[in-house]
Amino acid sequence: MANASRSAFAPEALICHGDPPAECRQVVERLKLDLLTDDNSLAANTLCLYWRDGALSLGRAGSREHPVAVDFVRALQQRRQGPELLMKAVNGHLSVKPSVIDATAGLGRDTTILLSRGLAVTMVEQSPVVGALLDNAMARLRAEPGLAEVAQRLGLSRLNACDYLAVNRADVVYLDPMFAASGKSALAKKDMQLFQSLLGHGDDGEALLNAALASADYRVVVKRGAKAPPLAGREPGFAIKGKAVRFDVYPLKSFKQLANG
Ligand SMILES: C[S@@+](CC[C@H](N)C(=O)[O-])C[C@H]1O[C@@H](n2cnc3c(N)ncnc32)[C@H](O)[C@@H]1O
Repeated sequence: MANASRSAFAPEALICHGDPPAECRQVVERLKLDLLTDDNSLAANTLCLYWRDGALSLGRAGSREHPVAVDFVRALQQRRQGPELLMKAVNGHLSVKPSVIDATAGLGRDTTILLSRGLAVTMVEQSPVVGALLDNAMARLRAEPGLAEVAQRLGLSRLNACDYLAVNRADVVYLDPMFAASGKSALAKKDMQLFQSLLGHGDDGEALLNAALASADYRVVVKRGAKAPPLAGREPGFAIKGKAVRFDVYPLKSFKQLANG
């Protein structure tokens, strides 16, 4: 192992078959990983990062499962417009396009929905490993000629959201924290299992909600499992309910003021 102080659930190595490019080397240095050409020497199921054709992904040594990557380009190209609970919660399907801080960005799936509807989003992600996946996905988005305008609407801060929200504002702050009690999140089961072994369950829900309420100008939106209690026990102003998830909305100001001004 390259770094004895590394958490037992952090990836141990980055696997890159060929000559590692500068971006790949930066990830290795930043996360203090071993750089290997294959995962044969690692114990089965060891968490590791893979670098293939410019894309960074997270997986397990020897696993048949495809490693998990963030791919904004593919996600945006495959997205079909349709009624979207998240959009209803974020802007009430009005023509306004509020700026959004996605304070628990994860694999950026909810961010992709917001981007596809023309909103400007700043992602905040505290996990260095997930931050590296997002960073790499943003670089590939910037390199895609047809999506330059979308790339300009997307930002990333690799901080704890409470620290970021203490000094930054947006029209809407969106939270989808990883809570055992919520049972659901934007992540599919397989991705969720990988994430939980990497990140554990969040325990700063109350601090996050307080920071979000102090930083948002128009509303805070919190994603919960359909039957989960509200975050930190704080009842929202209203909720947009789906079969598996619920978006709790904490309105602060009417969007009419944003539309007028
Ligand atoms: C359930 S995932 C979010 C999934 C995301 N909504 C999506 O669509 O892919 C929660 C993420 O929030 C991050 N997170 C939790 N608490 C945080 C905090 N206080 N600051 C920044 N990131 C945080 C975790 O590291 C994890 O990546």
